[in-house]
Amino acid sequence: MKPNVIRSTLTALALCLLAGASQASTPGTVAQECGSCHLAFPAGMLPAESWKRIMNTLPQHFGTDASVDATTRAAIEKTLVAGAASFGRVATPPPEDRITRGNWFVREHREVSASVWSRPAIKSAANCAACHTRADQGDFNEHAIRIPR
Ligand code: HEC
Ligand code: HEC
Repeated sequence: MKPNVIRSTLTALALCLLAGASQASTPGTVAQECGSCHLAFPAGMLPAESWKRIMNTLPQHFGTDASVDATTRAAIEKTLVAGAASFGRVATPPPEDRITRGNWFVREHREVSASVWSRPAIKSAANCAACHTRADQGDFNEHAIRIPR
């Protein structure tokens, strides 16, 4: 195989694993506590180091207060760390611990232009469900994408 073929095969494999990990690792408490303001992001989309930092700074969470009680906090951290990414490019903490700033994310979305991200129906790259119609089920497959006008 040519290097670029190998690379895209590896990317496809990594994304399958991402999707698989997400199904298994975002149940109950995480969905409830982390899915009220935005999608409950799949655990497999960030490394453990990023999840720990996020869970230890919830009172100052991306410009808002997302605090939960200590027991809930510990349970969520445990679930997210258990399902965290531990391979390839996803294993490196992205800038600001944002999924949307990870190398794989930028690469997968390189065809989405800046003006599209800022459309009123989308507002932010973190608003996955605006385009990924089955994001709430951990399904980011390209066949389930519809970009709002
Ligand atoms: C009170 C509302 C609120 C709650 C509750 C909340 N968040 Fe957030 N979260 C935000 C906001 C606002 C942003 C920034 C979104 C943006 O930039 O568009 C954000 C961003 C994020 C991001 C980065 C998204 C990106 O840009 O890649 C992660 C990861 C995240 N939250 C995880 C969590 C986790 C884990 C929980 C549960 C413990 C949680 N959030 C609960 C409001 C919340
Ligand atoms: C503006 C619409 C839009 C938003 C918002 C968006 N995406 Fe995407 N996403 C796309 C497009 C377009 C592609 C490229 C599909 C292709 O390969 O042709 C893509 C591809 C992907 C892929 C690869 C899918 C595959 O089958 O190759 C993943 C995984 C993904 N996005 C996750 C996310 C996550 C997680 C979020 C939120 C943090 C998000 N996306 C936000 C439009 C969006």
